[in-house]
Amino acid sequence: MTTNAPPVLILLGPPGAGKGTQARMLEEQFGYVQLSTGDLLRAAVAAGTDAGKAADAVMKAGGLVSDQIVIDILRDRLAEPDCATGVILDGFPRTTVQAKALDALLVESKQRIDSVISLDVDDAAMVTRVAGRYTCASCGEGYHDTFKVPATAGVCDNCGGTDMKRRADDTVEAVGARLEAYHAQTAPLIDYYDGHGVLSRVDAMGQINDVAAALRGLIKSAVPA
Ligand code: AP5
Repeated sequence: MTTNAPPVLILLGPPGAGKGTQARMLEEQFGYVQLSTGDLLRAAVAAGTDAGKAADAVMKAGGLVSDQIVIDILRDRLAEPDCATGVILDGFPRTTVQAKALDALLVESKQRIDSVISLDVDDAAMVTRVAGRYTCASCGEGYHDTFKVPATAGVCDNCGGTDMKRRADDTVEAVGARLEAYHAQTAPLIDYYDGHGVLSRVDAMGQINDVAAALRGLIKSAVPA
């Protein structure tokens, strides 16, 4: 492990906690690359790859895709050259098997996990957050019917795109299943990373910019300048 190895940051949290929103803000601020396994899987589904075909129905129902598929996708993405500036993992790991696979990958690449931040939220509020969100189909910028609206209705602030999309798994039923999967399979990672001495917790029920400020402070103290 080298002290100047590219930083590895992990955002943990249930659906709607703000992992994607915060990861994109951190990407802009620190220059690290946001790696969202949800986005990688949705791209595989859209491309009709074997992994995408296997993942499609599981994702629509709100379950977790098999560890092996997700680990393979993440390993390939981590090997791409842009990840050399550092990465923010958004939605990975989600099981203990995935966490151990990540540990092994980082030993190979002589990296370490600099910080794991758990975004703590209320389950009930998450349904509102998730059901109200949409993204720009052109650039992926995220919005919400109430909490984050574009300056001009229907026009992306970031790229001017006008094609706004909602996710197929943002139904009340699927969000319920995703929350259950989080509590059963992902929440145990809070103790796992606490045991490794890299865990911090942030109250993510506040305003987006306040949560972002808390994350910035934690990352500045965790990652050597
Ligand atoms: P994934 O795409 O990772 O979805 P998720 O974890 O359910 O998380 P979300 O994207 O729904 O929420 P988020 O925390 O990013 O919140 P966001 O910033 O969008 O995974 C989808 C599926 O893929 C999974 O269900 C599974 O099937 C599969 N999958 C993915 N990774 C996997 C893995 N490792 N293993 C197995 N399967 C895997 O914010 C939500 C909304 O709230 C936005 O509109 C935002 O503007 C708003 N908002 C954000 N922060 C705030 C705030 N502080 N106040 C008010 N509003 C806010």
